[in-house]
Amino acid sequence: MTLIGPSLMCADMGVLKETVIRLDQAGVDFFHLDVMDGSFVPNFTMGPDLIKSIKPYTNKPFDVHLMVKNPEIHLDTFIDVGADMISVHAEATEHLQRTLQTIRNNGLKAGVALNPSSPIEELKYVLDVVDYVTVMTVNPGFAGQKFIPLMYKKVKDLKRMIDSEGYNIDIQVDGNIGYETIPGVLENGANMLVCGTSSLFKPEITFEEAVTKLKEFITSQKENQFEANLK
Ligand code: DX5
Ligand code: ZN
Repeated sequence: MTLIGPSLMCADMGVLKETVIRLDQAGVDFFHLDVMDGSFVPNFTMGPDLIKSIKPYTNKPFDVHLMVKNPEIHLDTFIDVGADMISVHAEATEHLQRTLQTIRNNGLKAGVALNPSSPIEELKYVLDVVDYVTVMTVNPGFAGQKFIPLMYKKVKDLKRMIDSEGYNIDIQVDGNIGYETIPGVLENGANMLVCGTSSLFKPEITFEEAVTKLKEFITSQKENQFEANLK
């Protein structure tokens, strides 16, 4: 199943509570919460208090994407405010295996995020403590950027590696995931879509329309893929 996760850094913070409620009711599968420290990435976004403030308004999983240095020292902060899943950047910690194990030991799903230039081989010896991999399909830090074309191949290579090692690990794609890029990432094995300004947060349509259109598009793409595989 392909999961849709709004990237809440793209939301209007002035009406974030209403946005969460509407997106939940529109049928999204999880919420993607980008946390940035201004050091690992050149931007700041939401912090633990903001995440805590919206937690009561949905039962959908909170996927916290820590784009911060030394994420291991911040895990409790985000666990305490209701994270259900936490992804940390392989590039941001000296102790990736221990950090992932700690996330899992707290009952959360553990994710590894990779910057565009980072090889998937970084994951080779932590696959047994990973629930999902976030492939950054833009350079992290800002919404509205352009998809990096080589990331299609990266998703395909990652899917092949996961399958050959016999693991059941989700592949999340994050950055410029929209109608031009969804076919390629789906075909290559991604199953968790982080949706921001490229597909969900579009002023010309409502959230309900955007989610419905996205779901229909994903279904049609998978049907096309199924038929192509039959030939
Ligand atoms: C980039 C963020 C993405 C981004 C997605 O660092 O992690 O979540 O906001 O939004 P668009 O669709 O604008 O790339
Ligand atoms: Zn993200």
